[in-house]
Amino acid sequence: MRLEANNLTKAYHTQEVVNIEKVTFGSAGLEGLIGPNGAGKSTLMGLLTRRITPSSGTMKLHIEDKTHPLNPFHSHQVARIGLIKTNQRIQGFDSLTIRDSLRLAATPARAEGFKSLFSGQRDSEEVEEKVARLVEAFPFADRNGYAMSGGEKKLLDILRCLIAEPKLLLMDEPTAGLPEDITRSVMDMVREKVQAGAMRVVVVEHDLPLIWEYCEYVHFLSEGSILFEGAPEEVKANRVVAEKYMGV
Ligand SMILES: Nc1ncnc2c1ncn2[C@@H]1O[C@H](COP(=O)(O)OP(=O)(O)OP(=O)(O)O)[C@@H](O)[C@H]1O
Ligand SMILES: [Mg+2]
Repeated sequence: MRLEANNLTKAYHTQEVVNIEKVTFGSAGLEGLIGPNGAGKSTLMGLLTRRITPSSGTMKLHIEDKTHPLNPFHSHQVARIGLIKTNQRIQGFDSLTIRDSLRLAATPARAEGFKSLFSGQRDSEEVEEKVARLVEAFPFADRNGYAMSGGEKKLLDILRCLIAEPKLLLMDEPTAGLPEDITRSVMDMVREKVQAGAMRVVVVEHDLPLIWEYCEYVHFLSEGSILFEGAPEEVKANRVVAEKYMGV
């Protein structure tokens, strides 16, 4: 599993907000992507999942012995081959209950071909079990109703991504707006899935202690470019990262 971008740029009018010669995600289980506000982290994640069209450059997803060029795809096609992202800002979820929203997110991966014709029953039981497990693992105010607060919507967005069982999940500030204990439960669940080999994850976060604790490898983005990459200890100790981000 490897997501690779080469000579990737994105400009809005005359402002270039992403300009990356080369970056690879997915080599480690859990990776971090950090950088100052406006560095281009969300834009990069939008480009990689094909929600945003690049000004130039190529993106490829290598899964096992197959290479998928991502440039010609729409975001739903990228999602179907196993690359999805959570959102920094949440909208929607008002028309579906928590459970229905999760059911819907769980279905596409199993709705294809013969499998769905012959094992629909078993699949739907499997989905129900997964939905129940996720809903019960978190303290939603109304487990049979709708996501109420901004925090619940944020959590639901993350759970929708997890139940879709991506091969690579990009998480854009998953903890912003969530209480500390929920953040930990979410990240522990993510780490468990990663360690079980179910998926790989890239997390964008300003919560640096969380990055140092959970990530095996960290990419530092500043002014649209990757300036440093390495193990958490190396990134923490790097002078450029300190100057540009930690205000040292
Ligand atoms: N649709 C857009 N049109 C014009 N400029 C944009 C657009 N989206 C993002 N930008 C600009 O691109 C730059 C990078 O924004 P981006 O949201 O990717 O940063 P970020 O690293 O995710 O920041 P944060 O940590 O605050 O979330 C910013 O200067 C932003 O104002
Ligand atoms: Mg952002």
